[in-house]
Amino acid sequence: MEIIRTPRIMRDTSKGHILRGKNIGFVPTMGSLHEGHLSLVRRARQENDIAVVSIFVNPVQFGPSEDFNRYPRDVEGDTEKLVKEDIDILFMPDITAMYTEDFSTYVEVEKISEKLCGVFRPGHFKGVTTVVAKLFNIVTPTRAYFGQKDYQQCVVIKKLVKDLDMDIYIVVCPTIREKDGLAMSSRNAYLDSTQRAASTVIYRCLTEASEMIKSGIIDFGHIKKVMHERISKEPVVSGIDYVGIYDPSTLDELSGIKDEVLPAAAIWIGNTRLIDNMLVKT
Ligand code: PAF
Repeated sequence: MEIIRTPRIMRDTSKGHILRGKNIGFVPTMGSLHEGHLSLVRRARQENDIAVVSIFVNPVQFGPSEDFNRYPRDVEGDTEKLVKEDIDILFMPDITAMYTEDFSTYVEVEKISEKLCGVFRPGHFKGVTTVVAKLFNIVTPTRAYFGQKDYQQCVVIKKLVKDLDMDIYIVVCPTIREKDGLAMSSRNAYLDSTQRAASTVIYRCLTEASEMIKSGIIDFGHIKKVMHERISKEPVVSGIDYVGIYDPSTLDELSGIKDEVLPAAAIWIGNTRLIDNMLVKT
């Protein structure tokens, strides 16, 4: 596995592969890799000639009071995992290589970025779309892989690619869960054992909502109330940013049935924010 730290070298390397007729599968990450990331990496490996993974903890997508400084970092462990997955290139740029002192250009997907998580994390998706646009320009992938756990991120990135005519196919892969249902996330490492045990409440509440929908209950107001009650009853839950049933395309809250619906929630357990969702065909 080749490790590249300079955007220019990464771009030239990709160019060389493309000139030789190879396609490139790309998995952008912030590192601290878990099975969720590795499921994307395996898919990129299987479906492309060249598999590229980036590790870059992007400061621009963290708010001033968020966890940029304490975000888990494990470059050595990550490198070992990627070697085992037979990845061709690990792109690991420095902050200064990505954001020069005079950096002043941002990419913003309006409207859809302002809903759900966007309400509670202003500027977050602007940071994500800026870095993803930069990474796409540097790596020039054929396909890029993202996890469904970050559902809104997937919708926002698909819109970015469509609106800016980027010739990149976005592949959304299923959420990978722990045995007890908790969606895998690098932030799960923040949870102590009591918090970790209680954190399954988000999965339990989404599963219950999905089952209610599948059983024919169409009063989404009632389902939302049940979801809210389940989560609030859990003593370690310190806040609920949102919970409800949403339109998978517009992310607006739904009051009535559609072919496909998205129960989703963002909650706080202590100082840790957890998000999760499930796509339900009705
Ligand atoms: O999902 C993530 O890990 C990040 O938001 C991403 C897409 C790598 C951009 O920094």
